[in-house]
Amino acid sequence: MYIPKDILFRTLCQGLRNAPEMRYKHRMTYEHWTIQGLPWDELSPGRVDPDTLAIIKAAALVEYNARDYADYLCRVFADDAVLQTDINRWAEEEVQHGAALGAWAGRIDPSWDFNAAMARFRTGYKIDHFANDNAESVRGSRSGELVARCMVEVGTSSYYTAIGRAVEEPVLKQICRHIAGDEFRHYKLFYDAMKRYLATENLGRFGRLKVALGRIAESEDDELAYAYYAANAPADAPYDRKTYNREYTTRAYRYYGRAEVDRAISMVFKACGFKPNTLPHRMATGTAWWLLSSKRKAA
Ligand SMILES: [Fe+2]
Ligand SMILES: [Fe+2]
Repeated sequence: MYIPKDILFRTLCQGLRNAPEMRYKHRMTYEHWTIQGLPWDELSPGRVDPDTLAIIKAAALVEYNARDYADYLCRVFADDAVLQTDINRWAEEEVQHGAALGAWAGRIDPSWDFNAAMARFRTGYKIDHFANDNAESVRGSRSGELVARCMVEVGTSSYYTAIGRAVEEPVLKQICRHIAGDEFRHYKLFYDAMKRYLATENLGRFGRLKVALGRIAESEDDELAYAYYAANAPADAPYDRKTYNREYTTRAYRYYGRAEVDRAISMVFKACGFKPNTLPHRMATGTAWWLLSSKRKAA
């Protein structure tokens, strides 16, 4: 069924506003899902393929590491107590994502040691602006920082939506649905905060686009490749960025469908202040889909 892009965009925005878990202003007050409440008695290891298990192990490490990101954000927004409260709650949810994915992976593969993999990841992967005490945003402004955060949530919401749709194992499907819901809500949280900061900071649409594209490009930096390595490579295997980036992307990109790509581009446009159903929007969705398809073929 064909849905015009402007209607799709409006529906997305309306959906984000009206979803029950979105009905908050600055604080997340609804009851969050729990790891204990997952349908563990339905766990079906026989319905898990090794490639899915490998990328979920990697995702668990990245998600579980969110506390460092929150500490950095709290330094950047040191005088915004309301946003700091939300950032800390956000980090708790991201850490829970890691714990849930790690618990699932540990039950599917009892030989896997989540804590050991996490220690390996933290030892080998460090981000400079998380490690130092700098209170300035590396994005050049606070609204730029929030644009970058929106981009991460665009990536995670589409990723878990795609995996949740594609996998057959019922517990992982449920975890991904829960996480995807959280990631959409996180996008809304940072989008609303960005709008507040835009009222006082002079970051135009193209400035936001520059930050957004920069952050999207960083998705192919070391973080995911190193997480894949730390979670899956033999203990004596040396790290090679190109190798493990390919190992990760080969497995991760296959889940995406056109619907996830279209929605992700709409969310990027929304964060940057550009209108949907325009030639640039159509070109962006076409280009994103072409890039994804090319990478899948090259893998
Ligand atoms: Fe997450
Ligand atoms: Fe998130």
